[in-house]
Amino acid sequence: MQKNSYLDYKRIIAQLVSGVLAETNIDAEMIYGLLEYPPNQELGDLALPCFQLSKVLKKAPPLIAAQLQTQIDPAPYFAEVQTAGAYLNFRLAPEPLITNVLGKILECGSSYGAQNLGDGEKIVIDYSAPNIAKPFHVGHLSSTVIGNVLYNIFNFLGFISVGINYLGDWGTQFGKLITAYKKWGSEAEVKQGLIKELTRLYVKFHTEAEADPTLDEEAREWFRKIENGDEEALKLWKWFKEISLEEFQRVYDILGISFDSMAGESFYNDKIKAVVDELKEKNLLEESDGASIVDLELYGMPPCLILKKDGSSLYATRDIAAALYRKKTYQFSKALYVTGMAQSLHFQQWFKVVELMGYDWAKDLVHVPFGLVNLKGEKLSTRTGRVVLLEDLLTTAIQKTLEIIEEKNPDLPQKAQIAQDVGVGAVVFGALSVNRIKDVTFSWEEALNFDGETGPYLQYTHARACSILRKADFQGETGINFEPEKLNEPAALKVVKTLYLFPERIIAAATEYEPSIICRYLIDLAQDFNWFYHECQVLVADQDLSRARLVLVSAVKTLLATGLGLLGIKAPEQM
Ligand code: ARG
Repeated sequence: MQKNSYLDYKRIIAQLVSGVLAETNIDAEMIYGLLEYPPNQELGDLALPCFQLSKVLKKAPPLIAAQLQTQIDPAPYFAEVQTAGAYLNFRLAPEPLITNVLGKILECGSSYGAQNLGDGEKIVIDYSAPNIAKPFHVGHLSSTVIGNVLYNIFNFLGFISVGINYLGDWGTQFGKLITAYKKWGSEAEVKQGLIKELTRLYVKFHTEAEADPTLDEEAREWFRKIENGDEEALKLWKWFKEISLEEFQRVYDILGISFDSMAGESFYNDKIKAVVDELKEKNLLEESDGASIVDLELYGMPPCLILKKDGSSLYATRDIAAALYRKKTYQFSKALYVTGMAQSLHFQQWFKVVELMGYDWAKDLVHVPFGLVNLKGEKLSTRTGRVVLLEDLLTTAIQKTLEIIEEKNPDLPQKAQIAQDVGVGAVVFGALSVNRIKDVTFSWEEALNFDGETGPYLQYTHARACSILRKADFQGETGINFEPEKLNEPAALKVVKTLYLFPERIIAAATEYEPSIICRYLIDLAQDFNWFYHECQVLVADQDLSRARLVLVSAVKTLLATGLGLLGIKAPEQM
């Protein structure tokens, strides 16, 4: 495995310290894991807390820090090494930092930060997965955009991402839909209203079924017909699916997202029997009120339902069949499932069943949950029909952005395209920027604020950097020989230190399956850059100073574009 070839101060310190402690059983890995970025940079740029070392060395932490300080030679990477109580603090020497980070960004361009940590291992990512005949609503936005970021960053880190859109195209709800269609719908109305009409029928089914439970019976019967390949049932099901896919595709086109596989739940219909047989053979299947279950009481969970009384399969059954198939097909080293938190128990249950079946790779199945998306405090649900469609949300965002552009910069070329890039960027960033476990409340004022912590703010900062470089007619080569000491003032140095963190933050985002780490990082970078821009004029009479500052601007531009790209957000050069 090729370890990263980027400047890594933690690695350097780990080697220095473990070198000094060679006689003990403290190794570089342990030191590496202990290093922190102090919240207050007055003290230093990196700190080694000595509490843990104290347990091994049987000495007081401040004493260890003091001894290490006298034994470590800071040059050339550090300007000084100081102690503060139990901490050993390292201050970076500016020149190697500047030369190294900026030189490498200039050299690597858009591949800066990419590395081969995955060594070609496959990561299967199951995301988006909207349900056929239901609207693609804002709730599916999170899954779609989080999954897409994971897809991008794992590829960036040398894994092979496999993106799977596990469409919800199977299940009792299709029985409900056919029942409703036969009772209250018509071909003409569906052709006219498309998903909106299908949703109307679905909602009507639920209201009517409350008064008349025989409708549920009818719906189950229709779904059984689908499972058994009844011609009329299948024909209707296919038709509803086509209508839905067309609508979904419009949304994916706006978002610029595509998948390696669209194998939805129905794809596994013919693979269910083998799973059920295997469960029987392994003595895991039990009867309960006529249904077939796997008992999970021993693990503190309710039973996992495998087959209903009438023999039809369930959500978990199809997920198990899909996991077995994916393992065989892709030989994944990890399989991620990006869904709302409400499904946590479902995943715990069937992951356990796979484990009980004797598959050690059950440990490689990971549920990546996220919180709810609210729009101005309103919950989004399908049954009540009060849903905000993702497509409407995106088109509104684009429209609102266009209005802002008309007002602020009416002569901008390619206005429509830029309004699309920025409007979509605002929505996508809004869904990604909060820690994924937390609920998101989406508000237009916030998402479209060009000065707030938003997608448009990042895009605007990127465009500003582009415009400076354009004015100076700066090309990458022009910068190669710049004088690092010209970037010694605090505002410039702050930017370089933030640039330095990029590769590390990408890895953290991948390790924690947390796109918001990249969002936070890019906001920090943009804010540092805007402070620098405020403090330091770039185009000045001193040619060498100008060149050094332009190199900095160009590096910021490169990483903003790369970061936005990983988030699935466009980075227009002008706006
Ligand atoms: N279609 C499901 C839903 O909308 C999500 C599917 C998630 N993936 C999975 N393998 N279960 O709730």
